[in-house]
Amino acid sequence: MEEKLTLAIESSCDETSAAVLRGGRTVLSNIIATQIPVHQKFGGVVPEIASRKHIVNIMPVIDEAISKAGVELKDIDQVAVTYGPGLAGALLVGVSAAKSLAFSLDVPLIGVNHLEGHIFANFISHPDLKPPFVSLVVSGGHTSLVHVKGYNSFSLMGQTRDDAAGEAFDKVARVMGLPYPGGPQIDRLAKEGNPEAIDFPKALQNKGNYEFSFSGLKSAVLNYLNSMKLKGIEVNKADVAASFQNTVIEVLIGKALQAIKETGCNTLVLAGGVAANSSLEARLRAAAERNNIRFCYPDKILCTDNAAMIGCRGYYQAEAGSFSNLYLNAVPGLALQDV
Ligand code: KG4
Ligand code: ZN
Repeated sequence: MEEKLTLAIESSCDETSAAVLRGGRTVLSNIIATQIPVHQKFGGVVPEIASRKHIVNIMPVIDEAISKAGVELKDIDQVAVTYGPGLAGALLVGVSAAKSLAFSLDVPLIGVNHLEGHIFANFISHPDLKPPFVSLVVSGGHTSLVHVKGYNSFSLMGQTRDDAAGEAFDKVARVMGLPYPGGPQIDRLAKEGNPEAIDFPKALQNKGNYEFSFSGLKSAVLNYLNSMKLKGIEVNKADVAASFQNTVIEVLIGKALQAIKETGCNTLVLAGGVAANSSLEARLRAAAERNNIRFCYPDKILCTDNAAMIGCRGYYQAEAGSFSNLYLNAVPGLALQDV
C-alpha cells in the first residue's frame, strides 16, 4: 500500500507555507512565501499586515505545493496545520484554509504545535533519526529543552522565563541599526569580531536548572552601547555582536549538555530558526563530538518556518490516531507541553 499523502499548512508568523509529504519523511513539495521584505521597514513583524499577506498568499501557495508535488487535491489523505503558538490573525488564515480543505475533501484534519514541528524538521533531514533524544528548540519566540522520548511522547525540561534567544538576537540587532530579522545579521557581523572582547552576563547558571533567561543579557548589551555613547567612545559593532552571540551560545551548549547527561540520551537535536546560526551549529557539533554524542540539525531551509516540518509532525500524530475536529481554533499561546 502506498504511504499516505499529507498536505501541510503553516502561517504562524511571517511565512505562508504549504507542503505535500508522502509518508512522514518524503517531502514532495515545500513552498514558502516569505513576508520578511514587507516587515523589514517596520523593524519587526506587524501582525495585521502579516494576516493580510497570508490571506493573499495562502491559496496560491497551496496550489503551487499541490502542482509541484505532481499530485491532485483529490489524492490528499489528510491535512495538517499549525494551530499555535503564533500570531492569532496569522494562524487563523492557515487554520481556516485547512479546515475548509479537510471538510471539502472529506479527509482527517490534524492540528499541529508549531514548536513540535520545528523538532520534527530533523526527521526529514535525518531519515535514520529516531527518539529518544534531547532537543534544543531555539526560535524567535521560544527557547526550550525537550526530552523527546517517542514520536508522541515529550517531556519539557525547561524553557525561557522571558525573551527567547531569537528575540534577543533581533532586539540587539535592532539597537545596533541592523535590519530585521537580526539573527542572520548578528551571525554575519560576529564572524568579524572577537567573542571574548566584552564580558556579558549569563543567567540561571546553577546546575540542573534548564530554564533560560535572555532579557538580562539583552539589557546588558543595551547598557554597554549606551554607556559607550555617553562616553563618546565608538563601539566595535563586530565585537559586540560576537560577544553577545558567544554568551548566548555558551548558555545553550552548557544546558544542552547537562540535559543530555541527566536523561542518558546520546543524541542532541537542534531545532528552530536560530538553528541556522553558523557558530551555534559548529560549536554544538564540536561539543557533541567531544562528548561522544550524535548531533543533528535540520537543513537550512527546514530551520526557519516551513510547512514540511508541520506535515512530518502531523503524520506521526495521525499514526497515533491523534486528529482534530472542525472546531479546531488558533491557540496563539500554545505551549510545548509534556505529552
Ligand atoms: O523559528 P523561526 O523561523 O520563527 C519562530 O517560530 O519564531 O525563528 C526566527 C528567528 C528570528 O529571531 C531570527 O532572527 C532567528 O530565528 N534566526 C537566526 C539566524 N537565522 C534566523 N538567529 C541567529 N542566527 C541566524 N543565522
Ligand atoms: Zn518557528
